[in-house]
Amino acid sequence: MAADIGVTGLAVMGANLARNLARNGYTVALHNRTAAKTDALINSYSSEGEFVRTESLAELVGALQRPRRVLIMVKAGAPVDAVIDELVPLLDEGDIVIDAGNSFFEETRRREETLRGHGLHFVGVGVSGGEEGALHGPSIMPGGSRESYETLGPMLEKIAADYHGEPCCAWVGTDGAGHYVKMVHNGIEYADMQVIGEAYDLMRQLAGLEPAEQAAVFREWNTTDLASYLIEITSEVLEQEDELTGRPLVDVIVDAAGQKGTGRWTAISGLEVGSPVTTIAESVFARSISSQQQLRRITRDAFAAGVGSPVPADELYGSGEARQSFVEDIRKALYASKLVSYAQGFDMLTAAGAEYGWDLDMRTIASLWRAGCIIRADLLDTIMKAYQHADERPANLLLAPEFTEAINECLPAWRRVVAAAATYGVPAPVFSSSLAYYDSLRAERLPASLTQGLRDYFGAHTYQRVDKPGTFHIRWSEDRTEAEV
Ligand code: 6PG
Repeated sequence: MAADIGVTGLAVMGANLARNLARNGYTVALHNRTAAKTDALINSYSSEGEFVRTESLAELVGALQRPRRVLIMVKAGAPVDAVIDELVPLLDEGDIVIDAGNSFFEETRRREETLRGHGLHFVGVGVSGGEEGALHGPSIMPGGSRESYETLGPMLEKIAADYHGEPCCAWVGTDGAGHYVKMVHNGIEYADMQVIGEAYDLMRQLAGLEPAEQAAVFREWNTTDLASYLIEITSEVLEQEDELTGRPLVDVIVDAAGQKGTGRWTAISGLEVGSPVTTIAESVFARSISSQQQLRRITRDAFAAGVGSPVPADELYGSGEARQSFVEDIRKALYASKLVSYAQGFDMLTAAGAEYGWDLDMRTIASLWRAGCIIRADLLDTIMKAYQHADERPANLLLAPEFTEAINECLPAWRRVVAAAATYGVPAPVFSSSLAYYDSLRAERLPASLTQGLRDYFGAHTYQRVDKPGTFHIRWSEDRTEAEV
Protein backbone atom coordinates (compact mmCIF):
# COMPACT_ATOMS: atom_id res chain seq x y z
CA MET A 1 0.00 0.00 0.00
CA ALA A 2 1.41 3.41 -0.95
CA ALA A 3 2.00 5.56 2.11
CA ASP A 4 0.33 8.96 2.59
CA ILE A 5 3.43 10.61 3.97
CA GLY A 6 7.06 9.79 4.70
CA VAL A 7 8.91 10.87 7.83
CA THR A 8 12.69 10.96 7.96
CA GLY A 9 14.47 11.62 11.25
CA LEU A 10 12.99 9.52 14.01
CA ALA A 11 14.41 11.09 17.16
CA VAL A 12 11.66 11.78 19.67
CA MET A 13 9.96 14.68 17.83
CA GLY A 14 9.98 12.92 14.45
CA ALA A 15 8.86 9.63 15.97
CA ASN A 16 6.01 11.30 17.83
CA LEU A 17 4.81 13.20 14.76
CA ALA A 18 4.93 9.93 12.76
CA ARG A 19 2.89 8.19 15.46
CA ASN A 20 0.43 11.07 15.60
CA LEU A 21 -0.08 10.80 11.82
CA ALA A 22 -0.53 7.02 12.01
CA ARG A 23 -2.97 7.31 14.93
CA ASN A 24 -5.01 9.63 12.74
CA GLY A 25 -5.38 7.02 10.03
CA TYR A 26 -2.51 7.93 7.70
CA THR A 27 -0.11 5.31 6.40
CA VAL A 28 3.34 6.57 7.32
CA ALA A 29 6.56 5.50 5.65
CA LEU A 30 9.46 5.71 8.09
CA HIS A 31 13.13 6.37 7.57
CA ASN A 32 16.05 7.09 9.85
CA ARG A 33 19.78 7.28 9.21
CA THR A 34 20.23 4.25 11.46
CA ALA A 35 17.53 1.62 10.98
CA ALA A 36 17.54 0.70 14.68
CA LYS A 37 15.31 3.71 15.48
CA THR A 38 12.86 2.76 12.72
CA ASP A 39 12.68 -0.78 14.06
CA ALA A 40 12.26 0.40 17.64
CA LEU A 41 9.32 2.60 16.61
CA ILE A 42 7.63 -0.17 14.63
CA ASN A 43 8.23 -2.78 17.35
CA SER A 44 6.73 -0.61 20.06
CA TYR A 45 3.92 1.15 18.22
CA SER A 46 2.79 -0.89 15.23
CA SER A 47 -0.59 -1.32 16.89
CA GLU A 48 -1.19 2.46 16.63
CA GLY A 49 -1.54 2.49 12.84
CA GLU A 50 0.05 1.66 9.50
CA PHE A 51 3.81 2.08 9.20
CA VAL A 52 6.02 1.22 6.23
CA ARG A 53 9.62 0.46 7.11
CA THR A 54 12.27 1.79 4.73
CA GLU A 55 16.05 1.80 4.91
CA SER A 56 17.02 4.56 2.49
CA LEU A 57 15.59 7.82 1.26
CA ALA A 58 15.15 6.25 -2.17
CA GLU A 59 13.08 3.49 -0.61
CA LEU A 60 11.11 6.05 1.40
CA VAL A 61 10.30 8.05 -1.74
CA GLY A 62 9.36 4.85 -3.57
CA ALA A 63 6.85 3.98 -0.85
CA LEU A 64 4.83 7.19 -1.23
CA GLN A 65 1.73 8.03 -3.20
CA ARG A 66 1.79 11.16 -5.36
CA PRO A 67 2.17 14.00 -4.88
CA ARG A 68 4.73 12.73 -2.43
CA ARG A 69 4.94 14.29 0.98
CA VAL A 70 8.21 13.90 2.85
CA LEU A 71 8.52 15.35 6.33
CA ILE A 72 12.04 16.02 7.56
CA MET A 73 12.61 16.15 11.30
CA VAL A 74 16.34 16.45 11.77
CA LYS A 75 18.53 18.94 13.60
CA ALA A 76 18.23 22.46 12.15
CA GLY A 77 21.09 23.66 9.95
CA ALA A 78 23.41 21.55 7.79
CA PRO A 79 21.60 18.22 8.47
CA VAL A 80 18.44 19.65 6.82
CA ASP A 81 20.41 20.61 3.70
CA ALA A 82 22.06 17.18 3.60
CA VAL A 83 18.67 15.43 3.57
CA ILE A 84 17.26 17.86 0.98
CA ASP A 85 20.25 17.37 -1.33
CA GLU A 86 19.71 13.63 -1.24
CA LEU A 87 15.96 13.89 -1.65
CA VAL A 88 15.65 16.33 -4.54
CA PRO A 89 16.92 14.04 -7.32
CA LEU A 90 14.50 11.35 -6.13
CA LEU A 91 11.39 13.53 -6.35
CA ASP A 92 9.08 14.63 -9.15
CA GLU A 93 7.38 17.91 -9.95
CA GLY A 94 4.66 18.82 -7.49
CA ASP A 95 6.07 16.75 -4.62
CA ILE A 96 6.22 18.40 -1.22
CA VAL A 97 9.19 18.53 1.14
CA ILE A 98 8.33 19.57 4.68
CA ASP A 99 10.81 20.80 7.28
CA ALA A 100 9.16 20.58 10.68
CA GLY A 101 12.24 21.46 12.74
CA ASN A 102 13.13 24.79 14.33
CA SER A 103 14.92 26.08 11.22
CA PHE A 104 16.01 29.67 10.79
CA PHE A 105 13.48 31.37 8.51
CA GLU A 106 16.12 32.80 6.16
CA GLU A 107 17.32 29.26 5.48
CA THR A 108 13.74 28.25 4.80
CA ARG A 109 13.40 31.12 2.32
CA ARG A 110 16.58 30.01 0.57
CA ARG A 111 15.54 26.34 0.46
CA GLU A 112 12.06 27.20 -0.77
CA GLU A 113 13.50 29.21 -3.63
CA THR A 114 15.91 26.43 -4.61
CA LEU A 115 13.27 23.72 -4.52
CA ARG A 116 10.83 25.88 -6.41
CA GLY A 117 13.43 25.95 -9.16
CA HIS A 118 13.14 22.15 -9.26
CA GLY A 119 9.34 22.28 -9.46
CA LEU A 120 9.04 21.12 -5.85
CA HIS A 121 7.18 22.63 -2.91
CA PHE A 122 9.21 23.31 0.18
CA VAL A 123 7.17 23.91 3.30
CA GLY A 124 8.80 25.21 6.48
CA VAL A 125 6.49 24.30 9.33
CA GLY A 126 6.71 25.66 12.85
CA VAL A 127 5.71 23.01 15.35
CA SER A 128 5.27 23.79 19.02
CA GLY A 129 4.35 21.74 22.02
CA GLY A 130 7.41 19.65 22.75
CA GLU A 131 7.37 15.85 22.70
CA GLU A 132 3.91 15.51 24.18
CA GLY A 133 2.46 18.03 21.76
CA ALA A 134 4.00 16.26 18.77
CA LEU A 135 2.25 13.08 19.82
CA HIS A 136 -1.11 14.34 21.05
CA GLY A 137 -1.58 17.51 18.99
CA PRO A 138 0.90 20.33 18.53
CA SER A 139 0.30 23.87 17.39
CA ILE A 140 1.32 23.92 13.73
CA MET A 141 2.42 26.98 11.74
CA PRO A 142 2.98 26.06 8.08
CA GLY A 143 4.52 28.36 5.49
CA GLY A 144 5.32 27.56 1.85
CA SER A 145 3.06 27.91 -1.17
CA ARG A 146 -0.69 28.16 -0.76
CA GLU A 147 -1.00 25.38 -3.30
CA SER A 148 1.01 22.97 -1.13
CA TYR A 149 -1.33 23.68 1.75
CA GLU A 150 -4.26 22.34 -0.25
CA THR A 151 -2.68 18.90 -0.19
CA LEU A 152 -0.87 19.09 3.09
CA GLY A 153 -3.19 21.24 5.16
CA PRO A 154 -5.90 18.69 5.86
CA MET A 155 -3.32 16.23 7.19
CA LEU A 156 -1.66 18.77 9.42
CA GLU A 157 -5.00 20.07 10.66
CA LYS A 158 -5.97 16.54 11.61
CA ILE A 159 -2.92 15.96 13.80
CA ALA A 160 -2.86 19.46 15.30
CA ALA A 161 -4.10 20.47 18.74
CA ASP A 162 -7.80 21.09 18.94
CA TYR A 163 -9.16 24.22 20.57
CA HIS A 164 -12.90 23.79 21.12
CA GLY A 165 -13.26 22.04 17.78
CA GLU A 166 -10.89 24.30 15.82
CA PRO A 167 -7.52 22.93 14.73
CA CYS A 168 -4.47 24.92 15.84
CA CYS A 169 -3.07 24.82 12.34
CA ALA A 170 -3.47 27.22 9.41
CA TRP A 171 -1.40 28.41 6.51
CA VAL A 172 0.37 31.54 7.68
CA GLY A 173 2.20 32.79 4.60
CA THR A 174 4.64 31.99 1.82
CA ASP A 175 8.20 30.62 2.04
CA GLY A 176 9.69 31.19 5.53
CA ALA A 177 6.56 32.65 7.18
CA GLY A 178 5.81 29.48 9.15
CA HIS A 179 9.24 29.31 10.69
CA TYR A 180 9.18 33.05 11.32
CA VAL A 181 5.92 32.82 13.24
CA LYS A 182 7.33 29.89 15.24
CA MET A 183 10.46 31.93 15.97
CA VAL A 184 8.36 34.79 17.34
CA HIS A 185 6.40 32.24 19.38
CA ASN A 186 9.69 31.20 20.92
CA GLY A 187 10.73 34.79 21.58
CA ILE A 188 7.49 35.27 23.49
CA GLU A 189 8.13 31.93 25.21
CA TYR A 190 11.48 33.28 26.46
CA ALA A 191 9.80 36.45 27.76
CA ASP A 192 6.96 34.50 29.38
CA MET A 193 9.42 32.35 31.28
CA GLN A 194 11.60 35.28 32.28
CA VAL A 195 8.68 37.27 33.74
CA ILE A 196 7.62 34.20 35.68
CA GLY A 197 11.21 33.89 36.92
CA GLU A 198 11.33 37.52 38.00
CA ALA A 199 8.04 37.20 39.87
CA TYR A 200 9.35 34.11 41.66
CA ASP A 201 12.62 35.81 42.57
CA LEU A 202 10.96 38.94 43.94
CA MET A 203 8.47 36.93 45.98
CA ARG A 204 11.26 34.83 47.37
CA GLN A 205 13.85 37.49 48.07
CA LEU A 206 11.67 40.36 49.22
CA ALA A 207 8.61 38.63 50.66
CA GLY A 208 10.28 35.42 51.85
CA LEU A 209 7.90 33.08 50.07
CA GLU A 210 9.40 29.62 49.77
CA PRO A 211 9.00 27.63 46.53
CA ALA A 212 6.30 25.35 47.93
CA GLU A 213 4.29 28.36 49.12
CA GLN A 214 4.74 29.96 45.72
CA ALA A 215 3.39 26.84 44.04
CA ALA A 216 0.08 27.71 45.67
CA VAL A 217 0.37 31.35 44.57
CA PHE A 218 0.96 30.37 40.93
CA ARG A 219 -1.90 27.88 41.11
CA GLU A 220 -4.14 30.71 42.26
CA TRP A 221 -2.78 33.02 39.55
CA ASN A 222 -3.70 30.38 37.02
CA THR A 223 -7.35 31.16 37.77
CA THR A 224 -6.84 34.84 36.84
CA ASP A 225 -6.18 36.56 33.51
CA LEU A 226 -2.69 35.06 33.70
CA ALA A 227 -4.11 31.57 33.08
CA SER A 228 -1.66 29.73 30.84
CA TYR A 229 0.31 26.54 30.43
CA LEU A 230 3.57 28.07 31.66
CA ILE A 231 1.96 29.45 34.85
CA GLU A 232 0.39 26.04 35.42
CA ILE A 233 3.65 24.11 35.12
CA THR A 234 5.48 26.69 37.24
CA SER A 235 3.54 25.50 40.28
CA GLU A 236 4.52 21.92 39.48
CA VAL A 237 8.20 22.73 39.17
CA LEU A 238 8.15 24.86 42.33
CA GLU A 239 6.57 22.18 44.49
CA GLN A 240 8.94 19.49 43.29
CA GLU A 241 11.34 18.25 45.99
CA ASP A 242 14.80 17.00 45.18
CA GLU A 243 14.99 13.26 45.86
CA LEU A 244 18.59 13.40 46.93
CA THR A 245 18.53 16.28 49.41
CA GLY A 246 14.87 16.90 50.18
CA ARG A 247 15.38 20.53 49.18
CA PRO A 248 13.20 22.33 46.64
CA LEU A 249 14.29 21.13 43.21
CA VAL A 250 14.64 24.73 42.07
CA ASP A 251 17.39 25.19 44.66
CA VAL A 252 19.55 22.35 43.39
CA ILE A 253 19.31 23.26 39.70
CA VAL A 254 22.25 25.38 38.50
CA ASP A 255 20.93 28.89 37.80
CA ALA A 256 22.29 29.11 34.24
CA ALA A 257 19.59 29.04 31.56
CA GLY A 258 20.34 27.28 28.29
CA GLN A 259 19.18 28.34 24.85
CA LYS A 260 19.20 26.80 21.44
CA GLY A 261 19.00 30.01 19.46
CA THR A 262 15.41 30.80 18.55
CA GLY A 263 15.12 33.59 21.15
CA ARG A 264 18.36 35.10 19.89
CA TRP A 265 17.07 34.97 16.31
CA THR A 266 13.92 36.78 17.40
CA ALA A 267 15.90 39.57 19.00
CA ILE A 268 18.19 39.88 15.96
CA SER A 269 15.27 39.87 13.56
CA GLY A 270 13.53 42.54 15.65
CA LEU A 271 16.58 44.75 15.14
CA GLU A 272 16.66 43.95 11.45
CA VAL A 273 13.04 44.75 10.72
CA GLY A 274 13.21 47.82 12.96
CA SER A 275 10.81 46.55 15.60
CA PRO A 276 11.90 47.30 19.18
CA VAL A 277 11.39 43.91 20.83
CA THR A 278 13.08 45.07 24.01
CA THR A 279 11.25 42.70 26.36
CA ILE A 280 12.07 39.68 24.23
CA ALA A 281 15.70 40.72 23.74
CA GLU A 282 16.08 41.40 27.46
CA SER A 283 14.85 37.87 28.16
CA VAL A 284 17.53 36.46 25.89
CA PHE A 285 20.17 38.60 27.62
CA ALA A 286 18.88 37.47 31.02
CA ARG A 287 19.70 33.90 29.99
CA SER A 288 23.14 34.97 28.77
CA ILE A 289 23.93 36.75 32.05
CA SER A 290 22.75 33.76 34.07
CA SER A 291 25.23 31.62 32.16
CA GLN A 292 28.20 33.86 32.99
CA GLN A 293 28.70 31.87 36.15
CA GLN A 294 32.31 32.73 36.81
CA LEU A 295 31.92 36.44 36.16
CA ARG A 296 28.88 36.46 38.42
CA ARG A 297 30.90 34.84 41.20
CA ILE A 298 33.75 37.35 40.94
CA THR A 299 31.37 40.28 40.75
CA ARG A 300 29.41 39.07 43.76
CA ASP A 301 32.63 38.99 45.79
CA ALA A 302 33.81 42.37 44.51
CA PHE A 303 30.54 44.12 45.33
CA ALA A 304 29.66 42.30 48.50
CA ALA A 305 28.33 45.40 50.27
CA GLY A 306 24.60 45.75 50.95
CA VAL A 307 22.02 47.29 48.69
CA GLY A 308 21.57 50.44 50.72
CA SER A 309 17.86 50.60 51.45
CA PRO A 310 16.98 52.09 54.85
CA VAL A 311 14.20 49.60 55.57
CA PRO A 312 14.88 45.86 55.27
CA ALA A 313 12.65 44.22 52.69
CA ASP A 314 11.19 41.68 55.08
CA GLU A 315 9.92 44.47 57.31
CA LEU A 316 8.10 45.91 54.32
CA TYR A 317 6.86 42.85 52.48
CA GLY A 318 7.59 39.88 54.73
CA SER A 319 4.27 39.20 56.38
CA GLY A 320 0.56 39.78 56.71
CA GLU A 321 -1.40 42.11 54.51
CA ALA A 322 1.71 43.87 53.21
CA ARG A 323 3.01 40.61 51.89
CA GLN A 324 -0.31 39.81 50.31
CA SER A 325 -0.55 43.13 48.56
CA PHE A 326 3.06 42.90 47.37
CA VAL A 327 2.31 39.49 45.86
CA GLU A 328 -0.72 40.99 44.11
CA ASP A 329 1.47 43.84 42.84
CA ILE A 330 3.86 41.28 41.41
CA ARG A 331 1.01 39.48 39.67
CA LYS A 332 0.03 42.72 38.01
CA ALA A 333 3.63 43.54 37.04
CA LEU A 334 3.87 40.09 35.52
CA TYR A 335 0.66 40.51 33.55
CA ALA A 336 1.56 43.96 32.26
CA SER A 337 5.04 42.82 31.22
CA LYS A 338 3.54 39.81 29.52
CA LEU A 339 1.19 42.06 27.57
CA VAL A 340 4.18 44.10 26.45
CA SER A 341 5.98 41.00 25.20
CA TYR A 342 2.95 39.92 23.14
CA ALA A 343 2.54 43.48 21.85
CA GLN A 344 6.17 43.45 20.75
CA GLY A 345 5.84 39.98 19.20
CA PHE A 346 2.85 41.04 17.10
CA ASP A 347 4.52 44.33 16.25
CA MET A 348 7.52 42.50 14.83
CA LEU A 349 5.23 40.16 12.90
CA THR A 350 3.63 43.21 11.30
CA ALA A 351 7.04 44.66 10.43
CA ALA A 352 8.30 41.32 9.09
CA GLY A 353 5.16 40.88 7.00
CA ALA A 354 5.93 44.16 5.24
CA GLU A 355 9.62 43.35 4.91
CA TYR A 356 9.24 39.85 3.47
CA GLY A 357 5.96 40.26 1.60
CA TRP A 358 3.88 38.01 3.84
CA ASP A 359 0.23 38.81 4.32
CA LEU A 360 0.25 37.65 7.95
CA ASP A 361 -3.12 37.54 9.62
CA MET A 362 -2.60 38.34 13.29
CA ARG A 363 -5.95 36.94 14.33
CA THR A 364 -5.13 33.59 12.73
CA ILE A 365 -1.69 33.54 14.31
CA ALA A 366 -3.15 34.21 17.76
CA SER A 367 -5.67 31.43 17.16
CA LEU A 368 -2.89 28.91 16.45
CA TRP A 369 -1.31 29.57 19.83
CA ARG A 370 -4.43 28.87 21.88
CA ALA A 371 -3.72 25.16 22.32
CA GLY A 372 -0.89 22.68 21.83
CA CYS A 373 1.97 25.16 22.09
CA ILE A 374 4.12 26.29 24.99
CA ILE A 375 2.72 29.84 25.18
CA ARG A 376 -0.93 28.79 25.16
CA ALA A 377 -2.82 31.21 27.37
CA ASP A 378 -6.34 32.55 27.90
CA LEU A 379 -5.04 35.95 26.85
CA LEU A 380 -4.89 34.79 23.21
CA ASP A 381 -8.67 34.92 22.93
CA THR A 382 -8.54 38.62 23.77
CA ILE A 383 -5.72 39.11 21.27
CA MET A 384 -7.87 37.47 18.59
CA LYS A 385 -10.66 39.82 19.46
CA ALA A 386 -8.34 42.80 19.11
CA TYR A 387 -7.51 41.75 15.55
CA GLN A 388 -11.01 40.72 14.64
CA HIS A 389 -11.84 43.60 12.29
CA ALA A 390 -9.25 44.23 9.62
CA ASP A 391 -10.14 47.94 9.45
CA GLU A 392 -9.93 48.51 13.20
CA ARG A 393 -6.62 46.82 13.95
CA PRO A 394 -4.80 48.50 16.82
CA ALA A 395 -1.44 50.01 15.83
CA ASN A 396 -0.04 48.17 18.83
CA LEU A 397 -1.75 45.54 20.97
CA LEU A 398 -1.49 47.78 24.02
CA LEU A 399 -3.98 50.04 22.25
CA ALA A 400 -6.68 47.39 22.07
CA PRO A 401 -9.30 48.66 24.55
CA GLU A 402 -9.13 45.58 26.82
CA PHE A 403 -5.37 45.84 27.07
CA THR A 404 -5.29 49.61 27.54
CA GLU A 405 -7.63 49.12 30.45
CA ALA A 406 -5.53 46.27 31.83
CA ILE A 407 -2.32 48.30 31.61
CA ASN A 408 -3.99 51.24 33.37
CA GLU A 409 -5.18 48.89 36.06
CA CYS A 410 -1.75 47.31 36.55
CA LEU A 411 0.36 50.43 36.20
CA PRO A 412 0.71 51.62 39.83
CA ALA A 413 1.55 48.07 40.97
CA TRP A 414 3.98 47.62 38.08
CA ARG A 415 5.82 50.81 39.04
CA ARG A 416 5.94 49.81 42.72
CA VAL A 417 7.40 46.42 41.87
CA VAL A 418 10.08 47.82 39.54
CA ALA A 419 10.95 50.42 42.18
CA ALA A 420 11.20 47.75 44.89
CA ALA A 421 13.40 45.59 42.68
CA ALA A 422 15.75 48.52 42.06
CA THR A 423 15.72 49.63 45.70
CA TYR A 424 16.62 46.21 47.05
CA GLY A 425 18.91 45.13 44.24
CA VAL A 426 16.88 42.24 42.88
CA PRO A 427 17.35 42.05 39.12
CA ALA A 428 14.06 42.39 37.26
CA PRO A 429 15.32 43.25 33.76
CA VAL A 430 12.16 42.36 31.91
CA PHE A 431 9.71 43.94 34.35
CA SER A 432 11.70 47.16 34.11
CA SER A 433 12.43 47.02 30.42
CA SER A 434 8.75 46.41 29.62
CA LEU A 435 7.77 49.35 31.77
CA ALA A 436 10.34 51.51 29.99
CA TYR A 437 8.89 50.39 26.63
CA TYR A 438 5.44 51.47 27.76
CA ASP A 439 6.75 54.76 29.15
CA SER A 440 8.68 55.40 25.94
CA LEU A 441 5.64 54.84 23.76
CA ARG A 442 3.48 57.16 25.79
CA ALA A 443 6.08 59.88 26.49
CA GLU A 444 5.22 63.34 25.22
CA ARG A 445 8.86 64.00 24.26
CA LEU A 446 11.79 61.62 24.18
CA PRO A 447 15.43 62.66 24.59
CA ALA A 448 15.97 61.53 21.01
CA SER A 449 15.96 65.25 20.18
CA LEU A 450 19.19 65.61 22.15
CA THR A 451 20.61 62.52 20.42
CA GLN A 452 19.89 64.21 17.10
CA GLY A 453 21.57 67.39 18.29
CA LEU A 454 24.68 65.45 19.29
CA ARG A 455 24.73 63.53 16.03
CA ASP A 456 24.51 66.78 14.17
CA TYR A 457 27.34 68.26 16.27
CA PHE A 458 29.91 65.54 15.76
CA GLY A 459 28.90 64.18 12.39
CA ALA A 460 26.67 66.71 10.62
CA HIS A 461 23.97 64.06 10.59
CA THR A 462 21.24 66.76 10.38
CA TYR A 463 17.89 66.97 12.10
CA GLN A 464 14.28 67.90 11.48
CA ARG A 465 12.41 70.70 13.25
CA VAL A 466 9.08 70.46 15.07
CA ASP A 467 7.79 73.69 13.52
CA LYS A 468 8.57 73.47 9.80
CA PRO A 469 9.46 70.87 7.19
CA GLY A 470 12.98 70.38 5.90
CA THR A 471 16.35 69.04 7.02
CA PHE A 472 18.70 71.22 9.02
CA HIS A 473 22.24 71.46 10.32
CA ILE A 474 24.00 73.85 12.68
CA ARG A 475 27.35 75.23 11.54
CA TRP A 476 28.85 74.09 14.84
CA SER A 477 32.48 74.88 14.05
CA GLU A 478 31.67 78.21 12.43
CA ASP A 479 29.12 80.76 13.59
CA ARG A 480 26.58 78.22 14.96
CA THR A 481 23.82 79.41 12.68
CA GLU A 482 21.32 77.02 11.21
CA ALA A 483 21.48 75.94 7.57
CA GLU A 484 18.80 74.18 5.64
CA VAL A 485 20.38 71.26 3.78
C1 6PG B 1 8.11 24.55 21.52
C2 6PG B 1 9.42 24.95 22.11
C3 6PG B 1 10.52 24.11 21.53
C4 6PG B 1 11.80 24.23 22.32
C5 6PG B 1 12.58 25.45 21.89
C6 6PG B 1 13.13 26.31 22.97
O1 6PG B 1 7.46 25.46 21.06
O2 6PG B 1 7.76 23.38 21.55
O3 6PG B 1 9.69 26.28 21.84
O4 6PG B 1 10.62 24.41 20.19
O5 6PG B 1 11.60 24.15 23.66
O6 6PG B 1 13.60 24.94 21.09
O7 6PG B 1 14.41 25.94 23.23
P1 6PG B 1 15.47 26.77 24.04
O8 6PG B 1 14.85 27.28 25.29
O9 6PG B 1 16.51 25.71 24.32
O10 6PG B 1 16.01 27.82 23.15
